[in-house]
Amino acid sequence: MVKICCIGAGYVGGPTMAVIALKCPEIEVAVVDISAPRINAWNSDHLPIYEPGLDDVVKKCRGKNLFFSTDVEKHVAEANIVFVSVNTPTKTQGLGAGKAADLTYWESAARMIADVSKSDKIVVEKSTVPVKTAEAIERILTHNRKGINFTILSNPEFLAEGTAIKDLFNPDRVLIGGRETPDGQKAILALRDVYAHWVPVERILCTNLWSAELSKLAANAFLAQRISSVNAMSALCEATGADVSQVSHSIGTDSRIGPKFLNASVGFGGSCFQKDILNLVYICECNGLPEVANYWKQVIKVNDYQKTRFVNRVVSSMFNTVSGKKIAILGFAFKKDTGDTRETPAIDVCKGLLGDKAKLSVYDPQVSEDQIMRDLAMKKFDWDHPAHLQPLSPTTNKQQVSVVWDVQEAVTDAHGICILTEWDEFKNLDYQKVYDNMQKPAFVFDGRNVVDVKKLREIGFIVYSIGKPL
Ligand code: NAD
Ligand code: UGA
Repeated sequence: MVKICCIGAGYVGGPTMAVIALKCPEIEVAVVDISAPRINAWNSDHLPIYEPGLDDVVKKCRGKNLFFSTDVEKHVAEANIVFVSVNTPTKTQGLGAGKAADLTYWESAARMIADVSKSDKIVVEKSTVPVKTAEAIERILTHNRKGINFTILSNPEFLAEGTAIKDLFNPDRVLIGGRETPDGQKAILALRDVYAHWVPVERILCTNLWSAELSKLAANAFLAQRISSVNAMSALCEATGADVSQVSHSIGTDSRIGPKFLNASVGFGGSCFQKDILNLVYICECNGLPEVANYWKQVIKVNDYQKTRFVNRVVSSMFNTVSGKKIAILGFAFKKDTGDTRETPAIDVCKGLLGDKAKLSVYDPQVSEDQIMRDLAMKKFDWDHPAHLQPLSPTTNKQQVSVVWDVQEAVTDAHGICILTEWDEFKNLDYQKVYDNMQKPAFVFDGRNVVDVKKLREIGFIVYSIGKPL
């Protein structure tokens, strides 16, 4: 019987392993983590992450062939295939700080695998890592435990949050990279057999290790680059009277460009795009390719520009001051259908407005007050480094920020509304009631282009949308 263990019960490890367990009933899957609260949550009725469809999958397999445990060493020792899906955040200190990937968690997982293993194992890189990481991991694994055969594979994950289960059930492709040796090829086939339970084999791509590792960084860089490209166009649209939705549609109908991922926004967020591009930039610099590094760096710069531009627009439209004015923030998660706030553009926008002394009333259907306050009190890049997390200073934000569980409460007496996440409910709010409850003139700054601009203007709102004529 094949036994799989996944180290890291996060946004990737949890859903991915749950789907493997569902699709491969004869395989026993254990998901392990050093965080006891996280494992407890996976074993409870309130899973640690909000992801449509996830509850169903977990309920069907948990306790049968899917287990969540803090007994990391036992499950690693028993497994034939060990996935490593730990966090790989941006380094905050030392060499490469602010760019390079911090592989501390990965390395400690690799050392632990080497220490506890008593039988041969396939070790799978599920985390997103710099190209050539497998070489370092191999050295750690083989150096520590002679006589045991570790074969390393790269199997990056392409799921997006909010659609993780859909993406896992029906992936565009599964990518498996391995050494071009008999052992490497055998390991690729073993992992391919797991996915082949539900993924058509022609969609399982097999490459060498470095191509697989780099393809993951490249895919995220290309995706983020599309957003920065359309966001750059949105600025030009605002300056010229073109409408970015019409431009996106017009270019997206070219089959070589395609219609997806062309929505202008307040900026992209999420735990990976920025981190992975910075990582790519660092790798290019280390390989003596400054021109290539600068090319990709620009994707991040345009994203930062878009967030700053949004804040500047809010302040300048509201007579150059938001000091003491209540502004409702609708949506804090980095996209709809997730409670994840990692690198959400809402953090930068809120911090920008707080810097201008605004009073914020934040509403998001999936994000807790504690999380929002923590995010607003934290330094850039610190969110994924638990050791850096400072206890929240009650004076930092509480006087300027309130978090509410009701849209109407958020907007009452507000001078302006900023829509920062495209939650469906924001499309169909009773905007007449919203308008009646607000200070006048009432402003709407739609950072996700979800509202019906014409309708809102008829009600009396002053509406600013990304890349739309004023
Ligand atoms: P996460 O922070 O949600 O989960 C990582 C988990 O690993 C945490 O629960 C942490 O406690 C645990 N962990 C860290 N070190 C450990 C150790 N030594 N032993 C046991 N557990 C340990 O992260 P995530 O969002 O699931 O991302 C994981 C990796 O997958 C990252 O490299 C990320 O870039 C990549 N990725 C993420 C997504 C996504 O949508 N979030 C998608 C594709 C790829
Ligand atoms: C992204 C990729 O889409 C996944 O393939 C990848 O596996 C993952 O990163 C990862 O490596 O972590 P995710 O960040 O979960 O997934 O979500 P996306 O749907 O890509 O959205 C990222 C950000 O871009 C969000 O803030 C979203 O609102 C924004 N976005 C997306 C736009 O502003 N415009 C668009 O057209 C699309």
